[in-house]
Amino acid sequence: MRKYKNIVILTGAGISAESGLATFRSEDGLWNKHRVEDVATIEAFYRNPDYVHEFYNEMRPELFNAQPNAAHKAITVLQEKYPANISVVTQNVDTLHEKAGNKNVYHIHGQINQMRCLNCGHVFETWGEFSSEDVCENCGIAAVLKPNIVFFGEDLLYMDKVDNLLRTCDLFLSVGTSGVVYPAAGFVQIAKMFGADTYEFNMEKTSNNRMFDEHIYGPAGTTLPEFVNKLLAEK
Ligand code: OAD
Repeated sequence: MRKYKNIVILTGAGISAESGLATFRSEDGLWNKHRVEDVATIEAFYRNPDYVHEFYNEMRPELFNAQPNAAHKAITVLQEKYPANISVVTQNVDTLHEKAGNKNVYHIHGQINQMRCLNCGHVFETWGEFSSEDVCENCGIAAVLKPNIVFFGEDLLYMDKVDNLLRTCDLFLSVGTSGVVYPAAGFVQIAKMFGADTYEFNMEKTSNNRMFDEHIYGPAGTTLPEFVNKLLAEK
């Protein structure tokens, strides 16, 4: 294995599966129980904000209580022991990377523990419940607080920074994502075009499969710590 200087780890719902959190597109996944059009588009929020609030109000306590697993912890070990710049770009709205002690985490799809005011842009942290009657603590306007989660139809967060990380990384790992939601699904192409080695960690072959140099199949809680040990052995 080469010695790497800049590592980007893209994560999706699969990295949190072994912490007991549902993924989106599996048989018992969130998008098989709820329609995206009802709870995860900006139109849905404008149409029926309280229905959308209810969905995330129910999700918040589960994500508050969830604990990081061996895959999240392996990233902490890598960041502490491997001499490279290591960033985590996550599509997950849970906070398990932070709970595991990961650094340089970019939540491109937002975070469940934040609200954003659509009037003044104020973002604040909270694990509380919300409704359309709540008032922004900054501008005092009601009915404009939205979970700080990127809905379909909205721009992703941190994209300038992430684009830069992808263009300069020499190792790109994709962990537990089905690779069907863009732009994240296209990150491997950017990293590869700029010379990175690319690895996919998943339980199964994804639709993005051909883009990667290497595939490591199995639960990330097992495969990622093993891979980290290999990197550390050869650093
Ligand atoms: P998906 O549910 O689409 O995909 C999860 C992937 O993780 C699948 O390919 C599984 O095979 C894999 N997987 C499951 N358990 C695993 C394990 N223990 N170890 C390794 N891999 C495992 O979730 P995402 O790809 O994250 O957006 O979905 C992308 C976006 O679609 C989400 O961020 C969400 C959704 O709409 C928003 O809500 C904004």
